Amino acid sequence: MKILFATNNAHKLSEVSEVLGDGFRLLTPRDCGVTEEIPETQPTLEGNALQKARYLHERTGLDCFADDTGLEVAALGGAPGVRSARYATDGHDFAANNRLLLKNLEGTTDRRARFRTVIALILNGEEHLFEGIVEGRIIDAERGAEGFGYDPLFIPDGGDKTFAEMSAEEKNAVSHRGRAVRRLAAYLHSIEK
Ligand code: IMP
Repeated sequence: MKILFATNNAHKLSEVSEVLGDGFRLLTPRDCGVTEEIPETQPTLEGNALQKARYLHERTGLDCFADDTGLEVAALGGAPGVRSARYATDGHDFAANNRLLLKNLEGTTDRRARFRTVIALILNGEEHLFEGIVEGRIIDAERGAEGFGYDPLFIPDGGDKTFAEMSAEEKNAVSHRGRAVRRLAAYLHSIEK
């Protein structure tokens, strides 16, 4: 089965195709002649994931899916949330985002946070949403060199390692994105039969 995934990020592509397994061939927007930036201007993760999937479906007519992720910090009322990539600046400046997060949490004892991923799938013209959540906490200073984004500041519940101190396999086993993709995979496998 061929399915279009709304990313040109090679890392995400290999992570997702590994979980989906051999029966699926993932296409990228570039493979389908979509070279412009795909709009994501909605105020929620669900809205953005659907906006990206609908855009690709309209452009190509293909079955497709798109994901959107945010870090939701309890003491900050769920921020940075949908603005996680652009928290400190307009770009994807991970170091600046992490500095701002630590500054905004200075003196705060409630460090609870969660990552949430939403995947929107359009299959045979029908829309489906899949969610993956990992609960955890934000520490006081960065630890670890793996991963990306807020990984050096986030410890998932049940352990002492930050995501940036874990191997890709360890992180995938418990992460928001791993969980959402496994739900998508289970659905796609169930209708394939
Ligand atoms: P995206 O929707 O996957 O592009 O994620 C938006 C932003 O959330 C990224 O730019 C990162 O700042 C943050 N983010 C998403 N996933 C992760 C993760 O697994 N670890 C750390 N930060 C993440």
